[in-house]
Amino acid sequence: MILVTGATGQLGGAVVRRLLERTDPATVCALVRDGTKATGLAARGVAVRLGDYDDVAALDRAMAGVHRVLLVAGNEPDRRVQQHQNVIDAARRAGVELIGFAGRTLRDIRASENTLMGDYFETENRIRASGLPHVLFRNALYLDTVPAYVGGARVFETGIRLPAGEGKVAFALRSEMGEALANAMIDHEIDHDGAERTHVVAAPRAHTFDDVAAALTEVSGTAVRYTRISDDEYVEDAVRAGLPEHLARRFLGFYSDIRDDQLGRTSSDLEALLGREPATLQQGLREVFAL
Ligand SMILES: NC(=O)c1ccc[n+]([C@@H]2O[C@H](COP(=O)([O-])OP(=O)(O)OC[C@H]3O[C@@H](n4cnc5c(N)ncnc54)[C@H](OP(=O)(O)O)[C@@H]3O)[C@@H](O)[C@H]2O)c1
Repeated sequence: MILVTGATGQLGGAVVRRLLERTDPATVCALVRDGTKATGLAARGVAVRLGDYDDVAALDRAMAGVHRVLLVAGNEPDRRVQQHQNVIDAARRAGVELIGFAGRTLRDIRASENTLMGDYFETENRIRASGLPHVLFRNALYLDTVPAYVGGARVFETGIRLPAGEGKVAFALRSEMGEALANAMIDHEIDHDGAERTHVVAAPRAHTFDDVAAALTEVSGTAVRYTRISDDEYVEDAVRAGLPEHLARRFLGFYSDIRDDQLGRTSSDLEALLGREPATLQQGLREVFAL
C-alpha cells in the first residue's frame, strides 16, 4: 500500500489521481488532516487516514499496512522540518520499504539567499540519516505559480514586472510532476545496497521571463513585455497591490535565486518518469492561464 501525504493538496492530489489510474484503489492510502476535504477520495475506495504532521500518534496509526510513503513537503516554514521528521520517524517505526520525498531543486543550496528553501534540503538530510530506503524528488518551480507572480490576467495590461533578471527557470506543470512522482513510487525498485536515487523533476528546457512574455504573447495574441525591475521597485509594486511589506521582502529570495540561475537546472527525469515529453512552455501557459 502506498501512502501519500498532503493528499488533499494540489501536488498530492495529482499523485493520488495517477495512482488510481494505475493501481487498485485498495492499495492507495491518503494522509489528510481534514477528512471533509477527502470525501471524494474515500468514495473512490482510497483508505483515508487522518493525521497532522504534528500528531505523532496519528502518524503511527496512519502507517498501518503501508509499504511505501510519499512525503509531500508541508507549507509551514518554521515548523516543517520537525513535521517532516515526525513522518520519517513514523515510517521508520512502521518498517516501510521505501520513503519518497517531494522537495525542491536548486543548483546550490549553500549559495541560495532564499531562506524558505533550506527546509527541503534539511529534510533530505534527515531522510538519509533515517537509514530508510529512499527516493528524492527535486521539484522545479511550478509553472502553475506564474500567474501569481505576474498578477494573473492583469499581465495582459501591465506586462511582467519582476526582479528576475535574465535568470532561467525549468518550469514544469504541477499535474505532470504529480503524475511522474506516482509513477516513480509504483515503479521504484528497492536498491538494497543503499544507493540513493534522486530525480530532478524539471522540464528539459529552461526559460527566462523574456521567454515567458514571448510565449504569453503567442498564446494570447496580446503583446506582453518583460521589464526587469529592482528589488525595491518589486516591494513598492507588491505593497501597492496589498501585500504586507515583510512578505514582499521575504519573496525577494525567490527572485534572487532566479537571477542567480538557481532554478535553471534542466533534466530528462520528468520526461522519463512520464514516458512522454512534458508540456511545452506555451502549452503549460495556455493551461494555467485558461487561454
Ligand atoms: N515547486 C514549487 O513551485 C512549489 C511552490 C510552492 C510550494 N511548494 C512546496 O510543495 C508542497 C506541495 O505543493 P502543493 O502545491 O501541493 O501545496 P498545497 O496545495 O498547499 O498542499 C500542501 C499539502 O500539505 C498538507 N499539509 C500542510 N501542513 C500539514 C500538516 N501540518 N499536517 C498534515 N498535512 C499538512 C496540506 O493539507 P490541507 O489540504 O489540509 O491544507 C496540503 O494537502 C508545498 O507544501 C510546498 O512545500 C512547491
